Amino acid sequence: MSFKKVFVAGAGQMGSGIAQLIASYEIPVIMYDIKQEYADNGKNKIEASLAKLAAKEKISAQKMKDILDRIMATADLSGASDCDLVIEAATENVEIKKKLFKDLDQIVSGETIISSNTSSVSITELASVISKPERFIGMHFFNPAPVMKLVEVINGRKTSESTTRQVFDFAKELSKDPVTVIDSPGFIVNRLSSPMLNEAAFLVYEHVASPEDIDKAMVLGLNHPMGPLALMDLIGIDVVLNIMQVLYREFGDSKYRPCPLLKKMVLSGELGRKTGKGFYDYSAK
Ligand code: 3HC
Repeated sequence: MSFKKVFVAGAGQMGSGIAQLIASYEIPVIMYDIKQEYADNGKNKIEASLAKLAAKEKISAQKMKDILDRIMATADLSGASDCDLVIEAATENVEIKKKLFKDLDQIVSGETIISSNTSSVSITELASVISKPERFIGMHFFNPAPVMKLVEVINGRKTSESTTRQVFDFAKELSKDPVTVIDSPGFIVNRLSSPMLNEAAFLVYEHVASPEDIDKAMVLGLNHPMGPLALMDLIGIDVVLNIMQVLYREFGDSKYRPCPLLKKMVLSGELGRKTGKGFYDYSAK
């Protein structure tokens, strides 16, 4: 394996999924969050996810235990000191991310590669706060990270070829099928998919069809594994809105105007599965 120990910053949906994935490839992972409670919650989510796999006899009880034992949940950033790869999956707020990277820059060794799983923030901008921007890169996983085959490997303006190669190879070692992309708003997937998701929200907003029929149309008509509204509930309405706001701002093009319904949903805490309500209601599940 290219990397011997990985530090995952952020124990939310993406951070915990990435930690689960890496630990299942026998690599020790330190999973950090700002409060021990948040880090522990992330580990509980991983345990629940592995328990489902164990119940389906996809992994043994021993393997489940081994994976969990390889993940240390912590609120102590200094755990990054002996990690050779950092993957940041913190909240999509540029100032929070910059502060985290500045702090990590003081802790990690000069050889450590620092990456961000950001879905919308510029890799070049994030790299500007660390001392070795040539060792900074985007490593964009897709939800659910243990399942989805793609990793977008995003080169910032100063990312070195060696950094790109190491991260690309590592993604392959995790059985992913990576692509490389130059830093640009939305990279490949979110630039293409978020406007489609946003348009689905407009269909609901304009009462063109019911949420169920919109999703059904895309599943049956385009063979998508799930409809756009169910997908937004999985990704998080706040995440989709944030990506649309970035595309709208960065390209200055009205075609990226976020649907007002997304804003209303975020303001009322309807963020999708993670809050129990989005386009659909999950409170009974
Ligand atoms: N860990 C490990 N395995 C998992 C898992 C997890 N957390 N969650 C699901 N799986 C496995 C299941 O065990 C199952 O394996 P099997 O096929 O070998 O039995 C397989 O994944 C499918 O899971 P389920 O049977 O539970 O459910 P579905 O067949 O309905 O698939 C889905 C669920 C994989 C989420 C599928 O609906 C799907 O692919 N949806 C689209 C997801 C997508 O588009 N993601 C990208 C979002 S965009 C993004 O993340 C970018 C960001 O920047 C916004």
